[in-house]
Amino acid sequence: MTVVKLNDGNRIPALGLGIWQIPADQTGRIVSLAIGMGYGLIDGAAIYGNEVGLGQGLRDAAVPREQVFVTTKIWNDRQGHDETLRAFDESVARLGLEPDLLLIHWPCPDKGLYLDTWRAMIRLREEGRVRSIGVSNFMGDHLERLIGDTGVTPVLNQIELHPGFQQVELRALHDRLGIATQCWTPLGKGQAFDAAPVQAIANRSGKTPAQVILRWHVQLGCSVIPRSTHEGRLAQNMDVFDFSLTEDEMAAMATLDNGTRLGPDPRVFS
Ligand SMILES: NC(=O)c1ccc[n+]([C@@H]2O[C@H](COP(=O)([O-])OP(=O)(O)OC[C@H]3O[C@@H](n4cnc5c(N)ncnc54)[C@H](OP(=O)(O)O)[C@@H]3O)[C@@H](O)[C@H]2O)c1
Repeated sequence: MTVVKLNDGNRIPALGLGIWQIPADQTGRIVSLAIGMGYGLIDGAAIYGNEVGLGQGLRDAAVPREQVFVTTKIWNDRQGHDETLRAFDESVARLGLEPDLLLIHWPCPDKGLYLDTWRAMIRLREEGRVRSIGVSNFMGDHLERLIGDTGVTPVLNQIELHPGFQQVELRALHDRLGIATQCWTPLGKGQAFDAAPVQAIANRSGKTPAQVILRWHVQLGCSVIPRSTHEGRLAQNMDVFDFSLTEDEMAAMATLDNGTRLGPDPRVFS
């Protein structure tokens, strides 16, 4: 499995399973199935309501704990120093394990609490309760304030990124700051599946449009976390390491950016 290096020396798989909207009663089965197929990264969050299933699926898969990189996130209404420590303990109890990566789910600038939240996460990392700490949905100004005020750079920023919303400027800032980019809603609700560059690469390589797009994410140097509840698609989404896009094909994919978000705007979402 290709990995993305993090600025704290740890490594995260370039591709994993996202579990948002996977029903709690199916999560254990799907996580276990995915790990059996070779998935080494599961992206969860307290707000997804399925941390119990995540932990159970990992235990059912019966692989060594260190073979699977587990992420969870601090939800918006748990921000603040002490509240974050409590929310983390609750996540650990539901998961039945300590996660590898803890993220601030959204910056919620109106709350004014992400610095206190971050200080609590720095403490958790120093205490050895979580290996890596990062953020999600942070814009450039949030990142610069976080780093400027605490001196600790997040290992990654998990952001909306797909062919229609390529986040060129934020990725460039990440590169300058040494922050890895992880992409959510990577398939972009299928909006680019029929686009000419995707179809051309799919025809040339014998891969599906979803595989072409996931491979594009990997070649951008990102970590990507597609979700599926279907066995065939779980397998398909993992099978993107035996082909590659040419430079010209990467350039053709770049033309699909129309700057349109599919999810909330981090400047106002709370
Ligand atoms: N940090 C954040 O704020 C944030 C926000 C959103 C998401 N996320 C994370 O990112 C993960 C992925 O994002 P997402 O779940 O929004 O979207 P996604 O992974 O881009 O797309 C999931 C959808 O695509 C379908 N799909 C999956 N594989 C496919 C394939 N090979 N061909 C065709 N369709 C396919 C799935 O349907 P089936 O299940 O029917 O296969 C599902 O409807 C989430 O699960 C979550 O972990 C984070």
